[in-house]
Amino acid sequence: MQEKFYLTTAIDYVNGAPHIGHAYEKILADVISRHKRQIVDNVYFLTGTDEHGIKIQKTAAAKHISPKEFCDENFSKFEQAWKELEIEYNQIIRTTDEQHKKIVKQIFKKLLENGDIYKHKYTGLYCSGCESFLNPKDLTQDGLCPDHLKKPDEITEENYFFRLSKYKYKLIDYIKTHPNFIVPAFRANEIIKQLEDIEDISVSRTKSSVQWAIDVPDDDEQTIYVWIDALSNYITAIGYDINEPSEKFKKLWPANVQIIGKDIIKFHSIYWTTILMSLGLPLPETIFSHGWITIDESKMSKSIGNVIAPKDVIDNFNLEHPDAFRYYMASAATLGKDGNYSDNEFKEKVNADLANNIGNLLNRTLNMLVKYFEGEIKSEFISDKNSSIAILAEDTKKQIIEKFNKYEIAEAANSIVDFADRVNKYVTENAPWQLAKEEKYTQCGQVIYNTLESMRYIALFIYPYCPNIAKDILKQLNQEEDFKYSKLQWGAIKEGKITEKEKIKPVFLRLDSEFALDKKRYIN
Ligand code: MSP
Repeated sequence: MQEKFYLTTAIDYVNGAPHIGHAYEKILADVISRHKRQIVDNVYFLTGTDEHGIKIQKTAAAKHISPKEFCDENFSKFEQAWKELEIEYNQIIRTTDEQHKKIVKQIFKKLLENGDIYKHKYTGLYCSGCESFLNPKDLTQDGLCPDHLKKPDEITEENYFFRLSKYKYKLIDYIKTHPNFIVPAFRANEIIKQLEDIEDISVSRTKSSVQWAIDVPDDDEQTIYVWIDALSNYITAIGYDINEPSEKFKKLWPANVQIIGKDIIKFHSIYWTTILMSLGLPLPETIFSHGWITIDESKMSKSIGNVIAPKDVIDNFNLEHPDAFRYYMASAATLGKDGNYSDNEFKEKVNADLANNIGNLLNRTLNMLVKYFEGEIKSEFISDKNSSIAILAEDTKKQIIEKFNKYEIAEAANSIVDFADRVNKYVTENAPWQLAKEEKYTQCGQVIYNTLESMRYIALFIYPYCPNIAKDILKQLNQEEDFKYSKLQWGAIKEGKITEKEKIKPVFLRLDSEFALDKKRYIN
């Protein structure tokens, strides 16, 4: 068994409240982490917030509060949002944490001492939106920043520079020889292309331009560039220290996967990895970049006014728990591609998969068990692991593990739905109601047993996406709440009474059903 699994997400800027784009990434990470916990003992999931930089400094000033007060306010919104989505991280780091700041200074100093950071006077085109100098050949035809559509300012500054160019060929070679390093693979070529003409990068700002940042050690004039500060979180959080790294660090680093959006892949696969090389640390096993989430096919933006918070969806649909939203988001895009959120698609997808396909299957089958056998499994119903449906369940398990290993999270969800489809078909084809009519009770009980055992597999498969629904399925099957894959052996449901009429309830109500719209009525 694999000993540990360390996964990280990007750390979010706290200059606004969390929206469903931020949520998408945290849900993907949580789904991966919960899946890994089903298999690996020591899973460590780190997330956090990125709290320095000019934007935060300016927004706080406009609100007449200190940057730290502003960060505190927004940090709690992120914390709250992740709680509502049941994101089970082990740690949430803030870049304003004292320990983080101390180690970032150490890192900077070490790179100065080993000669990879040097001071250099430079004239360049600075975009305040990007908080960085731009390469003239990356500008639009009109000489504007491609992301902010603003003319960059020509600035002359003396800054510290990181000798990134020194590592360029080593990194190109590393990417070429490690096919799992950049996921999805189609991004690797983009990175190699960018690396071919990459130059050293400036890693400090003058205090007159950015004050809300970590100070460069032993220099009163300069602050550390926000990306150097931010990227280091992945190691400072777990106890990295130049002199004596903690046991925790030694156990966890290198990360198994670092999950980020496609917009920041360059910072991670080029800047971060070369800093690690300079520190003499191993590189993460995988940098997984996901696509972006649009709303009704448009980019989410404050100016369009279409920014949605995860809580909006949960409240609008009167959801009891975040499962449906988690499931939808985690299925929204195939590996590395963009996805879309729309209320209609959301409703249709979760009604089809969670209510109709999975929920109804459980409901119908438990009701048949009550109707024909008073809720009791008899020993002659129990099939062994060579039955065709058991083989299918095991095969689905293998597929899901393989897909997760490739970070194909939406694709793994499809395997669950396909399996549930096949089991639904199996029930239709074998028509247990007909078998009961013909008094073929043993055969009827066998079909019911196979279906319920399949539902137990489905509970474990769907747990990372829908932990509440998964718990409910196991409860209704009268099985202990344990989601470890070691429990996935065919035949765990034993003979005996497992349910009665009053205990059977839909695990997920269709979003347009009168019950879902008026929960109170359902409960009464
Ligand atoms: N602070 C930096 C990351 C530093 S990591 C050392 C940052 N912050 S962010 O708040 O702008 O974005 C945080 C993460 O959310 C990024 O991975 C980004 O790609 C992701 N997303 C932000 N908007 C998104 C969508 N609309 N859709 C999907 N992901 C999005 O970048």
